[in-house]
Amino acid sequence: MAQQVILTGIKPTGMPHLGNLVGAIQPSVDLSYSQDKQAFYFIADYHALTGLKDAKELSQYSRQIAAAWIALGLDPERVVLYRQSDIPEVFELNWILACFAPKGLMNRAHAYKASVQKNQENEESDLDAGVNMGLYTYPILMAADILLMQTRWVPVGGDQVQHIEIARDVAQYFNRQYQREVFTLPEALIDEAGAVIPGLDGRKMSKSYGNTIPIFAPATTLQKLVMRIATDSSRPGEPKDPDKSTVFQLYRLVATEAETEAYRQAFLAGIAWKEAKDQLYEVLNRKLSGPRERYHALLDDGAETLDRILVEGAPKARAVAQATMKKVRKAIGVE
Ligand code: TRP
Repeated sequence: MAQQVILTGIKPTGMPHLGNLVGAIQPSVDLSYSQDKQAFYFIADYHALTGLKDAKELSQYSRQIAAAWIALGLDPERVVLYRQSDIPEVFELNWILACFAPKGLMNRAHAYKASVQKNQENEESDLDAGVNMGLYTYPILMAADILLMQTRWVPVGGDQVQHIEIARDVAQYFNRQYQREVFTLPEALIDEAGAVIPGLDGRKMSKSYGNTIPIFAPATTLQKLVMRIATDSSRPGEPKDPDKSTVFQLYRLVATEAETEAYRQAFLAGIAWKEAKDQLYEVLNRKLSGPRERYHALLDDGAETLDRILVEGAPKARAVAQATMKKVRKAIGVE
């Protein structure tokens, strides 16, 4: 039986942080080791262009995502790692799918709706203010990424599920129109453990809240950030509720089960916040110090290794892309 395709992309919009690690990078690395699947992972640089217009930043953030993936254990021998912008077929398919995607479906997409809502709240007269067509049709480009590679499984965070459903809908419209299975129907694969990662202030860890812990920050910065995590004002000796504590939530993401249980007991017994944070820093640094070294080595060697990996990934992805486009073109009658 042919291997099922598992595919995911990460949009390069900033330094990868702990939320990205637990929600996207780590689960995708783990899944890439399943024997029965062929993994295609890519840097969604053209998706980032909807909001990021600084050339240096776009190129730097793209490299950082690739380096992060590899530093955290992705094996480029097993996984086809590539840049979206290196696959021209994505953009050809993007147009074709646009002709199958009902406009109303785009109106209901979360990212667009959020922009409209923000404009409403700010009493903007134009509810589409600040919305470019790239943002509006974002889900179509994403459907092209997914369907092009005949993807069966898409590991993503909960916020992306709607996009995968849109891709599936569009694939079905297409298959039905031409009465053949041109596209495999994709499904989201959600990592429950990493559902919501709290940031320094206790809200969801997100670049837009400025509350992130960058994965590859130097140890001293990591320590400072941990010390800044919001806590309540309970004193040493006073019992603390682990389930209401950001410090605890972050600890359990990176510690072993036994460590987490001991940490929970310490909270109930009234561990001082300073001590709790010292321990959190210890486990974080233990997990991140190895990857941090590999990450900087990859970025510092003139990015040669990194560029080679991406350059080698592109033709492998394109081979699959071209096979799909052949079927698509035949189906629509532009062979
Ligand atoms: N939208 C995803 C993000 O914000 C990135 C992405 C682009 C993606 N294309 C994809 C994810 C296809 C999964 C599959 O990070």
